[in-house]
Parts: sequence; C-alpha cells; structure tokens
Amino acid sequence: MINREKAFELLHKHLITENLRRHCLASSVVMKAVAQKLGQPAEDWEILGLLHDMDLDITKGDMKSHARVAVDLLSSEGLPEDYLHAILAHNEESGAKRSSVLDHALAASESITGLIVACAMVYPDRKISSVKTKSIAKRMKEKRFAESVSRENILECEKAGIPFTEFVDLALAAMSSIEDKLIN
Ligand SMILES: [Fe+2]
Repeated sequence: MINREKAFELLHKHLITENLRRHCLASSVVMKAVAQKLGQPAEDWEILGLLHDMDLDITKGDMKSHARVAVDLLSSEGLPEDYLHAILAHNEESGAKRSSVLDHALAASESITGLIVACAMVYPDRKISSVKTKSIAKRMKEKRFAESVSRENILECEKAGIPFTEFVDLALAAMSSIEDKLIN
C-alpha cells in the first residue's frame, strides 16, 4: 500500500479541479473515521477515500470509464485488489458490484460528503460544524435537494455495519475537523 504523501502526489498530478480535490479530501477523512469505528486500517482507508475519484478530470463526463481509469493508474502503485475493486464499484456504471464492507463504506462515505457540503452551503455561516445530524436526516427525504447525491449509496453505511445516525455523526465530526479546507 502506498503512503499518504504518495497518494496526495498522485491525486494532485491527475486531479486539477479544486472542488473535486475537496470532495476527495472530504471522502478521505470520512473513510478514516469509518475505519476507526470498524477497527480497520485507518490510514489505508483514508488513502482510498482520497484516490477514489482521481480520474475525474481525465474521464470528464464519460461515466463508463470513470473509476476504471483510476484503477489503471493505480494498478502499478501496489494497491491491494480489494481496494481497487472498491474504487471500481463506487461507480455503478463501471459494471462492478459492491459486496465487501470496504465497497459499501466507500460508496456511503463519498456520497454523504456531498449531502453534508450541500447542507452547509445553505446555512448563513456556510459552516459544516453548524450542520446537525437531524438536518441531514431531513434532507435525506428531500429528493430534490442536492438531487445528484444518491441516498441509496449513503444508506449502504448500514451494509458496512454502521447505523445511519452514527454514520452521519461521525461524518459530520470528521468533516468539521477540516472544514476550512472543504468550503471557502
Ligand atoms: Fe466521489
């Protein structure tokens, strides 16, 4: 497994768009918190969160190749097979199916980041630390709010073994800890 420094180097080499980099950073801190909750290797899961969307500036709108290009870029970097599969399967359009705890954790974590940022953006202070778990629960049911965020993917936290409310609590805490880097 590569280390965090190398992961940042790879991410910044391939992903230029600032908002996408922020999304990757948000996903990484949520994945780290999820790993800690589940007793899994936190730094490795953090790196997975960081790299999962590293190909988006290359694949642009081509959702059939998104994630597959990332896996190609990473296959020579020594990432374990199950990590590569989780990256591939986070994009349903790749055709890969999610089955492991890692697969579900990544899909849920990267999806909750979008809903949390969208919630924070409509607050007067635009602060992630102002967002409450119950606001996220309410927004889960409002399909037209941040409609590109898959609620089904978020609920896969339960398949990873974390109840929804606990998952939102830990994602909010993780993202609040670096909120200045996530919203400008
Ligand atoms: Fe993502």
